[in-house]
Amino acid sequence: MIILGIESSCDETAVAIYEGDPVNGQGHIVAEQIASQIETHAKFGGVVPEVASREHLTALGPMVDALLSEASLNWSDIEHIAVTAGPGLMGALLVGTSYARAAGMVNDIPVMPIHHMEGHLLAPGLEGVLPVFPFITLLVSGGHTLLVQVKAVGQYEVIGQTLDDAAGECFDKSARLLGLPYPGGPELAALAVDGNARRYKLPRPMLNRDNLNFSFSGLKTAVMYAVKGAGGLECLGKAERRDMAAGIESAICEVLVKKSIRACLQTDSPRLVIAGGVAANKRLREMLTELAGKKGIAVYLPHPRHCTDNAAMIAYAAFQKIRSGMPYFENWDARPRWSLSGIK
Ligand code: KG4
Ligand code: ZN
Repeated sequence: MIILGIESSCDETAVAIYEGDPVNGQGHIVAEQIASQIETHAKFGGVVPEVASREHLTALGPMVDALLSEASLNWSDIEHIAVTAGPGLMGALLVGTSYARAAGMVNDIPVMPIHHMEGHLLAPGLEGVLPVFPFITLLVSGGHTLLVQVKAVGQYEVIGQTLDDAAGECFDKSARLLGLPYPGGPELAALAVDGNARRYKLPRPMLNRDNLNFSFSGLKTAVMYAVKGAGGLECLGKAERRDMAAGIESAICEVLVKKSIRACLQTDSPRLVIAGGVAANKRLREMLTELAGKKGIAVYLPHPRHCTDNAAMIAYAAFQKIRSGMPYFENWDARPRWSLSGIK
Protein backbone atom coordinates (compact mmCIF):
# COMPACT_ATOMS: atom_id res chain seq x y z
CA MET A 1 0.00 0.00 0.00
CA ILE A 2 1.55 3.32 -1.10
CA ILE A 3 0.38 6.46 0.73
CA LEU A 4 1.19 10.11 0.08
CA GLY A 5 1.18 12.16 3.31
CA ILE A 6 0.72 15.94 3.42
CA GLU A 7 1.25 18.13 6.50
CA SER A 8 0.67 21.91 6.56
CA SER A 9 -0.96 22.64 9.93
CA CYS A 10 1.55 25.19 11.21
CA ASP A 11 4.96 26.43 10.00
CA GLU A 12 6.30 23.34 8.21
CA THR A 13 5.27 22.22 4.74
CA ALA A 14 5.95 18.49 4.65
CA VAL A 15 5.30 15.69 2.18
CA ALA A 16 6.18 12.01 2.37
CA ILE A 17 5.50 8.67 0.74
CA TYR A 18 5.08 5.65 3.00
CA GLU A 19 4.86 2.09 1.70
CA GLY A 20 3.48 -0.55 4.04
CA ASP A 21 2.25 -4.12 4.00
CA PRO A 22 -1.25 -4.15 5.54
CA VAL A 23 -0.93 -7.83 6.43
CA ASN A 24 2.13 -7.69 8.68
CA GLY A 25 2.03 -3.95 9.45
CA GLN A 26 5.64 -3.49 8.32
CA GLY A 27 6.69 -0.68 6.05
CA HIS A 28 9.15 2.07 5.29
CA ILE A 29 9.41 5.69 4.22
CA VAL A 30 10.04 5.81 0.48
CA ALA A 31 10.83 9.54 0.39
CA GLU A 32 10.14 12.61 2.49
CA GLN A 33 10.70 16.36 2.37
CA ILE A 34 10.21 19.10 4.93
CA ALA A 35 10.37 22.83 4.19
CA SER A 36 10.58 24.88 7.34
CA GLN A 37 9.26 28.45 7.49
CA ILE A 38 11.19 29.22 10.68
CA GLU A 39 13.44 31.85 9.08
CA THR A 40 10.42 33.75 7.74
CA HIS A 41 8.57 33.77 11.07
CA ALA A 42 11.65 34.31 13.27
CA LYS A 43 11.75 38.02 12.47
CA PHE A 44 8.22 38.36 13.90
CA GLY A 45 9.07 36.30 17.03
CA GLY A 46 6.38 33.70 16.28
CA VAL A 47 4.23 32.21 13.56
CA VAL A 48 2.16 34.72 11.54
CA PRO A 49 -0.86 32.71 10.26
CA GLU A 50 -1.42 34.56 6.98
CA VAL A 51 2.27 34.41 6.09
CA ALA A 52 2.26 30.67 6.90
CA SER A 53 -0.66 30.04 4.50
CA ARG A 54 1.05 31.88 1.66
CA GLU A 55 4.31 29.99 2.15
CA HIS A 56 2.47 26.65 2.16
CA LEU A 57 0.71 27.65 -1.04
CA THR A 58 3.99 28.40 -2.83
CA ALA A 59 5.84 25.37 -1.48
CA LEU A 60 3.38 22.47 -1.57
CA GLY A 61 2.79 21.77 -5.29
CA PRO A 62 6.48 21.80 -6.33
CA MET A 63 7.38 19.72 -3.26
CA VAL A 64 4.94 16.95 -4.19
CA ASP A 65 6.25 16.97 -7.79
CA ALA A 66 9.84 16.72 -6.52
CA LEU A 67 8.88 13.96 -4.07
CA LEU A 68 7.25 11.83 -6.76
CA SER A 69 10.24 12.22 -9.03
CA GLU A 70 12.68 11.43 -6.17
CA ALA A 71 10.70 8.25 -5.45
CA SER A 72 10.41 7.45 -9.21
CA LEU A 73 6.63 7.20 -8.81
CA ASN A 74 3.67 8.59 -10.74
CA TRP A 75 0.29 9.67 -9.41
CA SER A 76 -1.08 6.36 -10.67
CA ASP A 77 1.15 4.56 -8.11
CA ILE A 78 -0.35 6.45 -5.15
CA GLU A 79 -3.19 4.43 -3.58
CA HIS A 80 -4.19 6.80 -0.77
CA ILE A 81 -3.62 10.44 0.15
CA ALA A 82 -3.42 11.29 3.86
CA VAL A 83 -3.66 14.93 4.87
CA THR A 84 -3.59 16.76 8.20
CA ALA A 85 -7.13 18.13 8.62
CA GLY A 86 -6.57 19.64 12.08
CA PRO A 87 -5.95 20.92 14.65
CA GLY A 88 -3.86 23.86 13.46
CA LEU A 89 -4.07 27.21 11.68
CA MET A 90 -7.20 27.38 9.52
CA GLY A 91 -5.55 28.99 6.47
CA ALA A 92 -2.58 26.65 6.63
CA LEU A 93 -4.82 23.58 6.94
CA LEU A 94 -6.93 24.76 4.01
CA VAL A 95 -3.89 24.82 1.72
CA GLY A 96 -3.04 21.17 2.49
CA THR A 97 -6.60 19.85 2.50
CA SER A 98 -7.62 21.69 -0.70
CA TYR A 99 -4.53 20.41 -2.50
CA ALA A 100 -5.20 16.85 -1.27
CA ARG A 101 -8.84 16.96 -2.34
CA ALA A 102 -7.99 18.35 -5.78
CA ALA A 103 -5.20 15.81 -6.36
CA GLY A 104 -7.49 13.04 -5.14
CA MET A 105 -10.30 14.10 -7.47
CA VAL A 106 -8.10 14.50 -10.55
CA ASN A 107 -6.22 11.23 -10.01
CA ASP A 108 -9.11 9.25 -8.54
CA ILE A 109 -7.35 8.56 -5.23
CA PRO A 110 -9.23 8.42 -1.88
CA VAL A 111 -8.24 11.11 0.63
CA MET A 112 -8.10 10.41 4.36
CA PRO A 113 -8.20 13.34 6.83
CA ILE A 114 -5.79 12.80 9.73
CA HIS A 115 -5.70 14.39 13.18
CA HIS A 116 -2.27 15.98 13.57
CA MET A 117 -1.90 14.63 17.12
CA GLU A 118 -2.77 11.11 16.00
CA GLY A 119 0.16 11.41 13.61
CA HIS A 120 2.47 12.35 16.52
CA LEU A 121 0.99 9.57 18.72
CA LEU A 122 1.69 6.80 16.22
CA ALA A 123 5.05 8.21 14.98
CA PRO A 124 7.16 5.71 16.99
CA GLY A 125 5.86 3.04 14.58
CA LEU A 126 7.90 4.71 11.83
CA GLU A 127 11.00 3.17 13.43
CA GLY A 128 9.65 -0.36 12.99
CA VAL A 129 6.58 -1.64 14.79
CA LEU A 130 4.25 0.05 17.24
CA PRO A 131 4.49 -0.92 20.93
CA VAL A 132 1.92 -3.47 22.11
CA PHE A 133 -1.38 -1.80 23.13
CA PRO A 134 -2.20 -0.32 25.57
CA PHE A 135 0.59 2.17 26.03
CA ILE A 136 0.92 5.68 27.42
CA THR A 137 2.05 8.53 25.19
CA LEU A 138 3.38 11.82 26.46
CA LEU A 139 2.51 14.21 23.65
CA VAL A 140 4.45 17.44 23.99
CA SER A 141 4.35 20.04 21.23
CA GLY A 142 4.13 23.80 20.84
CA GLY A 143 0.38 23.83 21.43
CA HIS A 144 -0.32 20.64 23.40
CA THR A 145 0.81 18.77 26.48
CA LEU A 146 -1.18 15.58 26.82
CA LEU A 147 -0.91 12.22 28.50
CA VAL A 148 -2.85 9.78 26.38
CA GLN A 149 -3.71 6.16 26.98
CA VAL A 150 -3.55 4.52 23.56
CA LYS A 151 -5.80 1.46 23.70
CA ALA A 152 -5.78 0.68 19.98
CA VAL A 153 -5.44 2.59 16.70
CA GLY A 154 -8.23 5.19 16.90
CA GLN A 155 -8.91 4.66 20.61
CA TYR A 156 -7.26 7.43 22.57
CA GLU A 157 -8.13 8.50 26.09
CA VAL A 158 -6.68 11.78 27.32
CA ILE A 159 -5.81 11.14 30.97
CA GLY A 160 -3.82 14.30 31.66
CA GLN A 161 -3.27 17.69 30.07
CA THR A 162 -2.01 21.18 30.66
CA LEU A 163 -4.33 23.64 32.32
CA ASP A 164 -2.59 26.61 30.68
CA ASP A 165 0.63 26.82 28.61
CA ALA A 166 1.96 23.80 26.71
CA ALA A 167 5.47 22.52 27.49
CA GLY A 168 6.75 23.72 24.09
CA GLU A 169 5.16 27.11 24.68
CA CYS A 170 6.94 27.30 28.05
CA PHE A 171 10.26 26.49 26.35
CA ASP A 172 9.57 29.12 23.67
CA LYS A 173 8.39 31.88 26.05
CA SER A 174 11.20 31.28 28.55
CA ALA A 175 13.72 31.29 25.70
CA ARG A 176 12.36 34.64 24.61
CA LEU A 177 12.87 35.99 28.13
CA LEU A 178 16.50 34.89 27.79
CA GLY A 179 16.79 36.81 24.51
CA LEU A 180 16.88 33.70 22.31
CA PRO A 181 15.29 33.63 18.83
CA TYR A 182 12.13 31.73 17.82
CA PRO A 183 11.55 28.80 18.09
CA GLY A 184 13.13 28.87 21.52
CA GLY A 185 12.96 25.19 22.51
CA PRO A 186 15.99 23.92 20.57
CA GLU A 187 17.88 27.21 21.20
CA LEU A 188 17.30 26.98 24.95
CA ALA A 189 18.31 23.31 24.95
CA ALA A 190 21.56 24.18 23.14
CA LEU A 191 22.33 26.96 25.63
CA ALA A 192 21.58 24.67 28.58
CA VAL A 193 24.34 22.18 27.76
CA ASP A 194 26.87 22.16 30.65
CA GLY A 195 24.75 24.65 32.62
CA ASN A 196 24.24 24.34 36.37
CA ALA A 197 20.53 23.54 36.68
CA ARG A 198 20.59 24.11 40.46
CA ARG A 199 21.83 27.69 40.47
CA TYR A 200 18.36 29.24 40.11
CA LYS A 201 15.52 27.78 42.14
CA LEU A 202 12.59 27.33 39.77
CA PRO A 203 9.22 25.76 40.61
CA ARG A 204 8.05 22.31 39.48
CA PRO A 205 4.38 23.19 38.90
CA MET A 206 1.76 20.63 40.00
CA LEU A 207 4.40 17.96 40.58
CA ASN A 208 3.10 17.10 44.01
CA ARG A 209 -0.58 17.13 43.07
CA ASP A 210 -1.88 13.61 42.80
CA ASN A 211 -3.27 14.00 39.28
CA LEU A 212 -1.91 13.84 35.75
CA ASN A 213 -2.42 17.46 34.76
CA PHE A 214 0.25 20.08 34.08
CA SER A 215 0.56 23.84 34.43
CA PHE A 216 3.49 25.73 32.96
CA SER A 217 2.48 29.39 33.05
CA GLY A 218 3.77 29.80 36.64
CA LEU A 219 7.19 28.54 35.60
CA LYS A 220 7.38 31.09 32.81
CA THR A 221 6.43 33.82 35.33
CA ALA A 222 9.12 32.56 37.73
CA VAL A 223 11.67 32.85 34.91
CA MET A 224 10.51 36.41 34.26
CA TYR A 225 11.05 37.31 37.94
CA ALA A 226 14.42 35.54 38.05
CA VAL A 227 15.60 37.61 35.06
CA LYS A 228 14.24 40.80 36.65
CA GLY A 229 15.77 39.86 40.02
CA ALA A 230 19.17 39.56 38.38
CA GLY A 231 18.82 43.16 37.15
CA GLY A 232 17.38 42.39 33.70
CA LEU A 233 18.63 40.47 30.68
CA GLU A 234 21.49 42.89 30.01
CA CYS A 235 22.95 42.12 33.46
CA LEU A 236 23.03 38.37 32.83
CA GLY A 237 26.41 37.09 31.62
CA LYS A 238 26.89 34.01 29.44
CA ALA A 239 27.28 31.71 32.48
CA GLU A 240 24.13 33.02 34.19
CA ARG A 241 22.06 32.64 31.03
CA ARG A 242 23.42 29.14 30.52
CA ASP A 243 22.61 28.16 34.12
CA MET A 244 19.12 29.61 33.90
CA ALA A 245 18.48 27.76 30.63
CA ALA A 246 19.61 24.53 32.32
CA GLY A 247 17.30 25.25 35.28
CA ILE A 248 14.31 25.85 33.01
CA GLU A 249 14.95 22.74 30.94
CA SER A 250 15.40 20.67 34.07
CA ALA A 251 12.18 21.96 35.68
CA ILE A 252 10.07 21.27 32.57
CA CYS A 253 11.61 17.83 32.01
CA GLU A 254 11.28 16.74 35.64
CA VAL A 255 7.55 17.47 35.70
CA LEU A 256 6.98 15.78 32.32
CA VAL A 257 8.97 12.68 33.26
CA LYS A 258 7.52 12.16 36.73
CA LYS A 259 3.92 12.65 35.61
CA SER A 260 4.41 10.29 32.65
CA ILE A 261 5.75 7.58 34.93
CA ARG A 262 2.86 8.17 37.32
CA ALA A 263 0.47 7.74 34.36
CA CYS A 264 2.06 4.37 33.50
CA LEU A 265 1.87 3.16 37.09
CA GLN A 266 -1.73 4.34 37.60
CA THR A 267 -2.97 2.65 34.43
CA ASP A 268 -0.77 -0.45 34.65
CA SER A 269 0.80 0.29 31.26
CA PRO A 270 4.47 -0.68 31.27
CA ARG A 271 5.13 0.99 27.90
CA LEU A 272 5.72 4.71 27.42
CA VAL A 273 6.05 6.64 24.17
CA ILE A 274 7.05 10.27 23.78
CA ALA A 275 5.98 12.32 20.81
CA GLY A 276 5.71 15.91 19.55
CA GLY A 277 8.38 18.56 19.02
CA VAL A 278 9.54 18.72 22.67
CA ALA A 279 10.19 14.95 22.52
CA ALA A 280 13.26 15.86 20.43
CA ASN A 281 14.78 17.31 23.62
CA LYS A 282 17.87 15.30 24.54
CA ARG A 283 17.64 15.90 28.28
CA LEU A 284 13.98 14.79 28.32
CA ARG A 285 14.87 11.60 26.42
CA GLU A 286 17.74 10.82 28.79
CA MET A 287 15.78 11.52 31.98
CA LEU A 288 12.79 9.52 30.79
CA THR A 289 14.89 6.52 29.75
CA GLU A 290 16.75 6.53 33.07
CA LEU A 291 13.80 6.96 35.46
CA ALA A 292 11.39 4.74 33.52
CA GLY A 293 14.04 2.03 33.37
CA LYS A 294 14.21 2.03 37.18
CA LYS A 295 10.45 1.36 37.29
CA GLY A 296 10.56 -1.40 34.67
CA ILE A 297 8.80 0.76 32.05
CA ALA A 298 9.93 0.38 28.42
CA VAL A 299 10.41 3.71 26.64
CA TYR A 300 9.84 4.19 22.88
CA LEU A 301 11.48 7.24 21.33
CA PRO A 302 10.78 8.28 17.74
CA HIS A 303 13.78 9.64 15.83
CA PRO A 304 14.08 13.39 16.68
CA ARG A 305 13.31 14.18 13.00
CA HIS A 306 9.93 12.47 13.41
CA CYS A 307 9.17 14.12 16.78
CA THR A 308 8.78 17.54 15.17
CA ASP A 309 6.18 18.11 12.45
CA ASN A 310 6.56 15.87 9.41
CA ALA A 311 4.38 14.17 6.81
CA ALA A 312 5.69 10.62 7.24
CA MET A 313 3.75 10.40 10.52
CA ILE A 314 0.57 11.52 8.71
CA ALA A 315 0.97 8.87 6.00
CA TYR A 316 1.80 6.27 8.66
CA ALA A 317 -1.29 7.12 10.76
CA ALA A 318 -3.43 6.60 7.64
CA PHE A 319 -1.67 3.28 6.98
CA GLN A 320 -2.52 2.09 10.50
CA LYS A 321 -6.13 3.28 10.25
CA ILE A 322 -6.71 1.68 6.86
CA ARG A 323 -5.19 -1.64 7.95
CA SER A 324 -7.36 -1.58 11.11
CA GLY A 325 -10.40 -1.32 8.83
CA MET A 326 -11.35 2.19 9.93
CA PRO A 327 -13.72 3.83 7.46
CA TYR A 328 -13.07 6.90 5.33
CA PHE A 329 -15.12 9.94 6.32
CA GLU A 330 -17.45 10.94 3.49
CA ASN A 331 -17.88 14.53 4.56
CA TRP A 332 -15.10 16.35 6.31
CA ASP A 333 -13.56 19.77 6.57
CA ALA A 334 -10.39 21.31 7.91
CA ARG A 335 -10.84 21.63 11.68
CA PRO A 336 -8.60 24.16 13.45
CA ARG A 337 -9.92 22.87 16.80
CA TRP A 338 -10.39 19.14 17.04
CA SER A 339 -10.36 17.03 20.17
CA LEU A 340 -8.27 13.87 20.07
CA SER A 341 -10.87 11.92 22.01
CA GLY A 342 -13.53 12.61 19.38
CA ILE A 343 -11.70 11.54 16.24
CA LYS A 344 -13.51 8.31 15.43
O1 KG4 B 1 5.27 19.22 17.26
P1 KG4 B 1 5.92 20.50 16.87
O2 KG4 B 1 7.03 20.43 15.83
O3 KG4 B 1 4.87 21.53 16.34
C1 KG4 B 1 3.61 21.66 16.94
O4 KG4 B 1 2.71 20.85 16.54
O5 KG4 B 1 3.52 22.51 17.85
O6 KG4 B 1 6.48 21.18 18.22
C2 KG4 B 1 7.12 22.43 18.22
C3 KG4 B 1 7.58 22.74 19.63
C4 KG4 B 1 8.13 24.15 19.78
O7 KG4 B 1 7.60 24.71 20.97
C5 KG4 B 1 9.63 23.92 19.90
O8 KG4 B 1 10.30 24.93 20.63
C6 KG4 B 1 9.67 22.59 20.62
O9 KG4 B 1 8.65 21.84 20.01
N1 KG4 B 1 10.96 21.91 20.45
C7 KG4 B 1 11.83 21.69 21.45
C8 KG4 B 1 12.96 21.03 20.88
N2 KG4 B 1 12.72 20.88 19.54
C9 KG4 B 1 11.49 21.41 19.29
N3 KG4 B 1 11.76 21.98 22.76
C10 KG4 B 1 12.79 21.63 23.54
N4 KG4 B 1 13.92 21.02 23.08
C11 KG4 B 1 14.04 20.70 21.76
N5 KG4 B 1 15.14 20.10 21.32
ZN1 ZN C 1 3.04 18.91 15.83
